[in-house]
Amino acid sequence: MRVLGIESSCDETGIAIYDEQQGLLSHALYSQVKLHADYGGVVPELASRDHVRKIVPLIREALAQADTTIEQLDGIAYTKGPGLIGALLVGACVGRSLAFAWNKPAVGVHHMEGHLLAPMLEDEAPEFPFIALLVSGGHSMLVDVKGIGQYEVLGESIDDAAGEAFDKTAKLMGLDYPGGPRLSKLAAKGRAVDYKFPRPMTDRPGLDFSFSGLKTFAANTIAAQPDDEQTRADIALAFEEAVVDTLMIKCRRALKQTGYKRLVIAGGVSANQRLRAELASMMQQQGGKVFYPRGEFCTDNGAMIAFAGLQRLKAGEREDLAVKGQPRWPL
Ligand code: KG4
Ligand code: ZN
Repeated sequence: MRVLGIESSCDETGIAIYDEQQGLLSHALYSQVKLHADYGGVVPELASRDHVRKIVPLIREALAQADTTIEQLDGIAYTKGPGLIGALLVGACVGRSLAFAWNKPAVGVHHMEGHLLAPMLEDEAPEFPFIALLVSGGHSMLVDVKGIGQYEVLGESIDDAAGEAFDKTAKLMGLDYPGGPRLSKLAAKGRAVDYKFPRPMTDRPGLDFSFSGLKTFAANTIAAQPDDEQTRADIALAFEEAVVDTLMIKCRRALKQTGYKRLVIAGGVSANQRLRAELASMMQQQGGKVFYPRGEFCTDNGAMIAFAGLQRLKAGEREDLAVKGQPRWPL
């Protein structure tokens, strides 16, 4: 089975072709980061328009790269939600229409399922069951994954997502959008100064997160300290350590609760090197293993949608003829 995947839920247009036997045949990505940079965040209407401009050329590119004809495709998968409704509808409209025109089955994929299965695009793929820590700009959740489609959300953020906290704190530090990777780069120059950042919700049982307090704590710390580059780097480091520590404590708890030895981290924040290193060393100590996708498949991409879509199509799932996007959609 060979599937064309389309991702357009936010500010990246991603197209890929995944083959059940041969693996990933191609993937093409266009990031709108520069378009939104002047506004300090994603402007939904501009995002939709840019998806419209890029989606068809990227589909052509992915087909050519994979040396695949339309006849060789067995289905089309597109991100149906959650995300920005205008952006989602571009992918859904193109995906559903092409499937109709080409007489192929179509399937709408949950964006977070895409992230969750992204480590399976790698040679060393995790076996089921595992705990998945999904940390992106829109979501933070811990999921018990027993198999394809067997997901139990064990905990999630009650306010800001981890990536959102990174982005908002970066903004407070005068860093450009998207702030997460920039803040992390600044933190690499930081010295260990104990600013007493909290580890939210770790002092009580449960697996939910809360990150908005960390952003507020960062704002107060920035206001109370001298405004120079080194101090900002020190605060960035303390903030990053607090987020990573908090995520680590909750992962340890989820693993203990389930008895699992495999941990998957995915979503944009899983590109964070400190998070990867800390979780890898924690898992090594516990005799377990951590899995994550390569850097380019941590953030939004078409490959994860093609892969997840293929699993869904194989299981017999089909989209009806209506073009639907679901901006809010529980996993
Ligand atoms: O998964 P993603 O591309 O889009 C969403 O579905 O939200 O995640 C983007 C998020 C942004 O908040 C971005 O700042 C964050 O991931 N991010 C990082 C890093 N790289 C991306 N946060 C911390 N450290 C990084 N290295
Ligand atoms: Zn995402």
